[in-house]
Amino acid sequence: MKLGRLNHIGVATPSIPDSIAHWRDVMGATKIHEPFDMPVQGVKVCFVDTPNTQIELIEPLGADSPIHGFLAKNPLGGQHHVCFEVPDIHAAKAEFEAMGKKVLGEPRIGAHGTLIFFVHPKDMGGMLTEIMETPKEAH
Ligand code: CO
Repeated sequence: MKLGRLNHIGVATPSIPDSIAHWRDVMGATKIHEPFDMPVQGVKVCFVDTPNTQIELIEPLGADSPIHGFLAKNPLGGQHHVCFEVPDIHAAKAEFEAMGKKVLGEPRIGAHGTLIFFVHPKDMGGMLTEIMETPKEAH
């Protein structure tokens, strides 16, 4: 496993506008990207830049959103997942599976336009972990 940079921390929220106000007014974020919908994933997403990573705000989109269950247990929202980059998404998936880790689904295009997959928190010290192929043009 080639551990790359922490790309973002996923934070579930019942309201992206309220969370934007928090990150801007309380935490001093100055670069907040335009929110956008990911209908296939059932989420609305907004990235907030910090000096060394990003916060990915995630709000439920539609009745079947996977975020509803998280917010039912955590009504204020909160940390949902962490996302680390790897150089080769397919190699990383094979390595996790060879270690007996539960990979959730096939690699698919994530919010940054590169391939991602998730690894089940039960195999990851309790952390839902997103693995993302490093964007080719960045870094
Ligand atoms: Co994410």
